[in-house]
Amino acid sequence: MRGIGLTEFGGPEVLHVVDLPTPDAGSGEIRVRVHAVAVNPTDATFRAGGRASQLAGRTPPYIPGVDVAGVVDELGPDTDGRLAVGDRVIAVVVPMRPRGGTYAEEVVVDERSVVHAPRGTTHGEASTLLLNAVAAHLALDAVNLDAGQLVAVTGAAGTLGGYAIQLAKARRLTVIADASPDDDDLVRTLGADQVVARGDGVTDRIRGLVPGGVAGLIDGANLDAVAMAAIADGGILVTVRGWSGPGERGIAVHPVSAFDAFTDTTLLERLRDLAEDGTLSLRVADVLPARDAARAHQRLAGGGIRGRLVLDFETSLAEV
Ligand SMILES: NC(=O)c1ccc[n+]([C@@H]2O[C@H](COP(=O)([O-])OP(=O)(O)OC[C@H]3O[C@@H](n4cnc5c(N)ncnc54)[C@H](OP(=O)(O)O)[C@@H]3O)[C@@H](O)[C@H]2O)c1
Repeated sequence: MRGIGLTEFGGPEVLHVVDLPTPDAGSGEIRVRVHAVAVNPTDATFRAGGRASQLAGRTPPYIPGVDVAGVVDELGPDTDGRLAVGDRVIAVVVPMRPRGGTYAEEVVVDERSVVHAPRGTTHGEASTLLLNAVAAHLALDAVNLDAGQLVAVTGAAGTLGGYAIQLAKARRLTVIADASPDDDDLVRTLGADQVVARGDGVTDRIRGLVPGGVAGLIDGANLDAVAMAAIADGGILVTVRGWSGPGERGIAVHPVSAFDAFTDTTLLERLRDLAEDGTLSLRVADVLPARDAARAHQRLAGGGIRGRLVLDFETSLAEV
């Protein structure tokens, strides 16, 4: 089979078509014929070498990719019977594992990380759900607020930010979101109760609405220490790229990693159900043939993408 991989870390151009042995599902594993893979910011981090220490000693090519949608085509021994060959599924993997990520025609996944795809969605749409919805869910668990309390979300127009808004509204929280003027309608449609202009001074604008500061802030824009000024004394800042403080004024800084919850099948099924019933909006910016992965990474680096870029693996990489 073929995949998209890299033999040295670097810019988008290091991504190329690679030949790989077709994997077989082992005990407790499922093999998925890949149809679509979402292109996430963490794939760019992986490609650029941000995960190099976790790949040390591994022989290239390294295969990026976390989210995947496709069809079950092999069940390993000792699987629990929840999934069958031919089922439409979505799954998540940690790409630093020995089997690599999801940018490949066939991917073998721990069965706990595979759930049926949301009904009524395309493979491309379905591939955009799990990584960011899991992260948003963990972020909301971490802020741990009650209905009616205030949470702010930065990077609100992004995939993680959008899910954070929608899951916060499902918990009946009040949401303040940041957005550029062009994204104001988008984040309101996602459920934001109040919107402030993003960028320099955003914390002053949040304080303008809530002079005492918000109880919690989910920092999808990676503002890190800058975000603290919007938060009430003793509140909580949830970060999504590992920043862990220090906090100030009794504010707790809580980094979350979706990777920690990838084998929580109950959570993955719950998020799938929320996508199926429309609570979570699956937003696809564009679908590109998998062989154009480098172009997808270039577009992601350029910013301004709304919704996820998706790689289509239905077009054979052998035609390249
Ligand atoms: N911890 C985890 O498990 C986990 C899981 C998923 C994602 N993440 C991280 O979460 C972050 C967001 O991911 P994503 O998939 O939502 O990315 P995304 O879809 O690209 O969204 C990021 C959003 O933030 C906006 N933004 C950039 N700089 C900003 C600023 N200074 N102020 C306000 N908004 C700003 C972007 O706008 P422009 O496009 O205009 O720049 C974009 O709308 C990334 O750092 C990603 O690595 C972490």
